[in-house]
Formats: sequence, structure tokens, C-alpha cells
Amino acid sequence: MAISIAQITDLHLLADPEAALRGCVTTARAAEVFGALRERSPDLLLLSGDLSEDGSPASYERLRDWVEALGCPAIAIAGNHDQPQCLAEICGRSPFINESVYTVRGWRIIALDSYQPKRVDGWLGSEQLDWLDQRLGEEATPTLLVLHHPPVLISVDKMDAIGLKDRPELLGLIARYGQVRLVLSGHAHQAFIQCRGTTAFLGCPATAMQFDQAELPAGWRSLELEADGSWRSQIHWVPALSTLALNQ
Ligand SMILES: [Fe+2]
Repeated sequence: MAISIAQITDLHLLADPEAALRGCVTTARAAEVFGALRERSPDLLLLSGDLSEDGSPASYERLRDWVEALGCPAIAIAGNHDQPQCLAEICGRSPFINESVYTVRGWRIIALDSYQPKRVDGWLGSEQLDWLDQRLGEEATPTLLVLHHPPVLISVDKMDAIGLKDRPELLGLIARYGQVRLVLSGHAHQAFIQCRGTTAFLGCPATAMQFDQAELPAGWRSLELEADGSWRSQIHWVPALSTLALNQ
């Protein structure tokens, strides 16, 4: 049976649930997305950073409550806007998964930390890359990596300037092993797909405002992972775009 994964990213939650960020009431948008996720009942939720805008305990507590209500395991990583310590304290227990490597039905899900204090761009560092090298060398199980900063250039100058700074090292490592099928990221606030060999690099729309098309609603990505290493993925909008068109 395939593993059903939901990726949501860049919620940018604020302590005040009615406050707006660039005209976007981020708490309301996130609440709608969690409503849509409850109808899908995924096996695993991936939260790929910028979960809070202000790093407030209230924002993480709200997120924890939504995840608990969803009722599936969740992996939450920090983005450049997050406060990792606060995130870990509030979202550090079940249903959140603490381990960096999570094995489920023939796949390994590996969470990477590209957060740097007081910096917008990302960095993994040699210690973490060495650790990943060891994990990938252990077994050839189909593998999904998730990190906040895109490890590929996406032809958006402003975003490429604040992406993952040690992307060549990560890409070189992935290329040395054949089993990394998917690399998921956030940060870009837009969807993209790039393929290098047998590895697909997928960007996910934000739950909060989109950078490429501001008129788009909240987005999220679903993935179905098969035991043979194949996968399918789709972007979803909340509300659905067809619904938006009908309402105009
Ligand atoms: Fe963001």
C-alpha cells in the first residue's frame, strides 16, 4: 500500500490569530488547509519550515493543536523565520517525530536542518553532510529528503540569492547515491519541479502568501510513495481554484 504524505510549508503563523502579514491573515489560511487535510487523512505530515513568522509560543501551540487533531505522525523542521528551540519545546512530542530518520513501508524520510541563526539563507554544514553520507551509505532504500531551503536554483534571482548555500555539496552527495528519489523544500513560496538523474526536486506553494502569483490561495502538496520507489505528487489549493473561478 502506498504511503500518503501531505507537505505544507511556510505557514508564517502569528501570535495574534487575526493579524495579517502582507495582507494575508496567515492563521485563517492555515486553519483552512488543516481542514482540507483532515478530509484526506494522510499517513504522514511534513512541515517544511517558516511555520511561525514571529517565533511566538502561541503560534507553535496553535500549530501543535492542529497537528494533534489531524491525528497522523508529523515531521516539523525550522525555516529562517522560526525559533527552533521554541518549535522543539512545543512541537517536540508525539504526534511529532523527533528522529531525523523515519522509516515507513520501505521508504526512508530524512529531515535536514538548513536553519542558520539570524540569516535568511540556508546552510547544512560539513558535519550534517557527513552524517547524511553515512545514512545514505547504510542502505539503498528509496529515500525522501526534506529541508527548508531549496537545494536547486529556481531561476528567481531574489530567491536563488537566499537559497541553500552549500547546495553543490548536497547535490554531489545525492548524485553519489542512487536511492534519493525526492527532495522536498519550502522557502520559495511557489511550486516547482526539477529532475536530476533519478532524483526529483519539488518546491511547494506556501500556506501563507505566494511569491510568484499573489492572487493564489493557500497551497499544499500531496505525495503517494510506492514500495518499489515510484511516486506521484499533486499540488492542491485551498479553496480549490475551480471553486474560486465559480465565485468570481
Ligand atoms: Fe517563508
